[in-house]
Amino acid sequence: MTDRTVLITGATAGIGEAAARTFAAAGWRVIGTGRRADRLEALAADIGPQMHALAFDMRDGAAIDDALASLPPAFQAIDLLINNAGLALGTAPAHQADLAQWQQMIDTNISGLIAITHKLLPRLVERKGAIINLSSVAATYPYSGGNVYGGTKAFVQQFSLGLRSDLHGTGVRVTSIEPGMVETEFTLVRTGSQAASDALYGDARPMTAQDIAQTLLWVASQPPHLNINRLELMPVTQSFAGFQVARG
Ligand SMILES: NC(=O)c1ccc[n+]([C@@H]2O[C@H](COP(=O)([O-])OP(=O)(O)OC[C@H]3O[C@@H](n4cnc5c(N)ncnc54)[C@H](OP(=O)(O)O)[C@@H]3O)[C@@H](O)[C@H]2O)c1
Repeated sequence: MTDRTVLITGATAGIGEAAARTFAAAGWRVIGTGRRADRLEALAADIGPQMHALAFDMRDGAAIDDALASLPPAFQAIDLLINNAGLALGTAPAHQADLAQWQQMIDTNISGLIAITHKLLPRLVERKGAIINLSSVAATYPYSGGNVYGGTKAFVQQFSLGLRSDLHGTGVRVTSIEPGMVETEFTLVRTGSQAASDALYGDARPMTAQDIAQTLLWVASQPPHLNINRLELMPVTQSFAGFQVARG
């Protein structure tokens, strides 16, 4: 048991759920969040008293405040915030995209992330804690249909570097994790189609949620003098495509 506490947003599925299990197995106390309370309760039942479930919507600032105020004493001293909750919606080109989907990505991936970070920063500074933000390769490399999703992840990447600068001298560590394709519920959420998700991941040998969870634990386990600024990961089967030229 490490006597350290991690708050992981978006622990009801994918990377966040794998991270909750991985950190708990490594002896951390885990606070897991997400909208689907039933899934959080099931996860907490599985992990045991080392986990505390906090169900709220990242887009609701008052709900974030209420949830954090409700933490039992044993879970109040947070050492690590993993800003993982997030989503992509839609794959249409920008001129055919749905504005409500764009807004939901911004409200979750940016506004929700900065709200919970702002709320926890004083405690993290006090404890010389750490923040790990889930950005994406979409922050650095544009792809068609990635428009606002890529924009939100570029925000997360740059916000992480900005936090590093602002937190200079406090001992707080900040990391931007930038994965390529990971098989989770991400594509089901993005497309609304299990068939589309199966087709994308099918024989592509994507990274697994467990791969990223292990990476998160590795980042969190570095000695206190060492900061991983940015970490980009891809499955071997994924790489870069070239520029495109419209002719005629
Ligand atoms: N999968 C990939 O290829 C990939 C690659 C690069 C980066 N990422 C990033 O990794 C992070 C985790 O994604 P994932 O792949 O694990 O996807 P996932 O399986 O769909 O999990 C997403 C998590 O985010 C939570 N979430 C979404 N909207 C929320 C909201 N409004 N309020 C609270 N929680 C919310 C979901 O919980 P509820 O639905 O229960 O609220 C769920 O726990 C995301 O930030 C994603 O952008 C993923």
